[in-house]
Amino acid sequence: MRAAASAPGKVILFGEHFVVHGAPALVASIDLRAAAIVERAESGGVRLSDGSKDNPAVKAVEHVLRRLGASASLIIEIESRIPQSVGLGSSAALAASSSAAALHLLAGRLDLNLILESSHEGEKIIHYMPSGIDTSIATFGGIGVYARSSGYKKLDIALEEILVVNTGMRRRTGDMVLRVRGFAEREPERFKQLLDEAGRIIEEGLDALRSRDLERLGMLMSRNQELLRVVGVSSPELEEAIAMCLDAGAYGAKLTGAGGGGCVIAAADPDKMDEIISRISGRFEVFRVRLGVEGVRVERP
Ligand code: PMV
Repeated sequence: MRAAASAPGKVILFGEHFVVHGAPALVASIDLRAAAIVERAESGGVRLSDGSKDNPAVKAVEHVLRRLGASASLIIEIESRIPQSVGLGSSAALAASSSAAALHLLAGRLDLNLILESSHEGEKIIHYMPSGIDTSIATFGGIGVYARSSGYKKLDIALEEILVVNTGMRRRTGDMVLRVRGFAEREPERFKQLLDEAGRIIEEGLDALRSRDLERLGMLMSRNQELLRVVGVSSPELEEAIAMCLDAGAYGAKLTGAGGGGCVIAAADPDKMDEIISRISGRFEVFRVRLGVEGVRVERP
C-alpha cells in the first residue's frame, strides 16, 4: 500500500521582495523535482522514513488527513534533486509531492486546491509567513504572475531554458525580508520609486517572454538586480556569480529568491550555455534548467 508523486522547484524571474510589498512577481517552475513515496504503517502516526516529524512534508500530510477526516499511520520517503535553502522551492516541492502521494493513496485522486492548502500549512513551520509562491508553483507548475492579492495566474508563455548558479550560501528568507522592510521604513519615497520600477520590469519581462527575446530578458534581469542591490539583498558571492555569467557571455543575470546567498539566474543563448557552464562550474554548482514544467503529478512508486 504505497503511492508516489513528484513536484517541481521554482525560480523567481522578476520581482522578489517587491512582491511582499504588493508588486507582482514573475515566477516559473523548473525541471528539478522532488519526489515522495508514502506508505501505510501499522502505527506511529505520520513521519519521514528517518522517523522525523518536524518538517513541512509531515505537516502537509497531517493536514491532508485532517481534511479527509481520516486517521492513518504513514511513512514518507523523500528524494529531491532540488538543492535546499537556496531559494529554489525545495521544501514546498516536498510538501506538495508528499500531500499528493498521501491523497492518492488514501482517496485515489488528486485535488490541487487541497494539495496547495496542505503544502501551505507545511511551509508555515519554516517560513513564518510564506507568500505562497513556492507552494503555488509546486502545485500548478508552468510560468505565471504571482501577486499577494490575487495569487498565482498561470500564463500561456514558454521559455525553454535558463541557467541557475548556486552559490551554496544558505540564508533565511525571513532575515532578508526584514532587511528590505528596514530599507522601506528608512527611505519610503525611494522605496516607492523602486517598487514602481519593479512593476515596469514585470510588464517588459512579460513582453520579452512572449516574443522570446532573450537579449531583452537578460537586460531586464540586470535592471532588476540593480534594484535588489539598492535594497541590500545582494552579497559578494551573488555578485561574483553574476559577473562570471556576464563575462562568459550571458545576456543578463540576477539573484533569484530572497538573496543574501542562494542562487543566481542568467539568460543566455542556448548555444552558449555549455560554454558558460564550463567556465563557471569550477567555482559554483550550475544547472541548465527547463522552465514552465508540469506541477505536482502522480508517479509510479
Ligand atoms: O526564499 P525564496 O526563494 O522562497 O524567496 C522568497 C521570495 C521573497 O519575495 C523574498 C519572499 C516572499 O515570501 O515572496
